[in-house]
Amino acid sequence: MNNHDGINFLQWCLPRLHYRWNGFRKVRRQVCRRIKQRIKELNLSGIHEYQKFLEESEEEWNILDSMCYISISRFYRDKKVFQVIESILFPFLANQSLVENRAEIRCWSVGCCSGEEPYTLQLIWKLSVFPLVKQHLSLNIIATERNRILLDRAHKGIYTFRSLKELPVKFLREGFIKVNDEYLLKDEFRENVELQCQDVRLNTPSGKFDLIMCRNLVLTYFEKELQKEILERIVDKLRPKGFLVIGAHEIFPKGIGGVTNYRNMKCIYQKSS
Ligand SMILES: C[S@@+](CC[C@H](N)C(=O)[O-])C[C@H]1O[C@@H](n2cnc3c(N)ncnc32)[C@H](O)[C@@H]1O
Repeated sequence: MNNHDGINFLQWCLPRLHYRWNGFRKVRRQVCRRIKQRIKELNLSGIHEYQKFLEESEEEWNILDSMCYISISRFYRDKKVFQVIESILFPFLANQSLVENRAEIRCWSVGCCSGEEPYTLQLIWKLSVFPLVKQHLSLNIIATERNRILLDRAHKGIYTFRSLKELPVKFLREGFIKVNDEYLLKDEFRENVELQCQDVRLNTPSGKFDLIMCRNLVLTYFEKELQKEILERIVDKLRPKGFLVIGAHEIFPKGIGGVTNYRNMKCIYQKSS
C-alpha cells in the first residue's frame, strides 16, 4: 500500500466510522501499518481488494474500527496544563471537598492509553499537593481505555525514558524505580487508579467527577456529531464547579451548555454551579 492509496483509503473509510480524517492525517502511519498487517492476515492482494472485502463484510468494519486508534501519550504531556492542575485546580478541588465534608476528589481520565495521564495526576497529587493538604483526602481516578493491550501496559506500569522525558526530575526520581533501561512506577502511585476497559462512545463510568481529562481523543478523532453527544454526557458527569480539561490543541465545540471557559485558559472548562 503506497502513501497515496493509504490516504485515499482512510478518506473513504474514516467518515463511515464517524472519525475525522483531519485528526488522523499527520499520524496515519500507525493505522496504515495495522491495516497492512490485516491485509496480510486475510491473504488479500492489497488495499483495493481489502476495500472490496469491506463492502461485502459487515463484521470487518468492526475489526477496521478497532484498528483506528492512535496510541501516542506521554507523562506530563503539555506541561502547562499539569502546572495549572497542580497549582490551581487541585488546591481548589481539595478545598471544595473539605468544605463539603468529602474525603475524596474523583477524576476520570478518558482514553488513558498506557496510564501516562492518570499516573501523572497521581504523582502530582501525592508528591506535591497532598503534603500541603493537612486533612485526610484521597484522589481517586477512574481511567478508561478501549484497547486491552494498552491497558495491560498500564497495569504493568513500566515505561521507557521517551515517555517520561517531560516529567519534572523530582517526580521521576521519587515516582519510579529504574530497572535496566526502563522505569517501573512505584506501587503507591498506582493505588487509587482504577483501570477500566471501556469505549467512550458506548459507556460512561458511574458517579460524578470533580475533574475529567478528555484530551487528544474525542475532539481530535471523532466527527462533530459524535463529539457533541459524548461531550454532553461528560459535562453531565461533572460535579458543580468541577473541571473538564481538553487537549492543548483542541477546540471546544460551540453549543455545549453547562460549562464555561476557566480564566481564559483555552483547554480548561468549569461546570456551572
Ligand atoms: C492519542 S491517545 C491520547 C492519550 C491521552 N489522553 C493523552 O492525551 O495523552 C488516544 C487514546 O484513546 C484511546 N481510544 C481510542 N478510541 C477510544 C474509545 N472509543 N474509547 C476509549 N478509548 C479510546 C486510544 O486507544 C488511545 O490510547
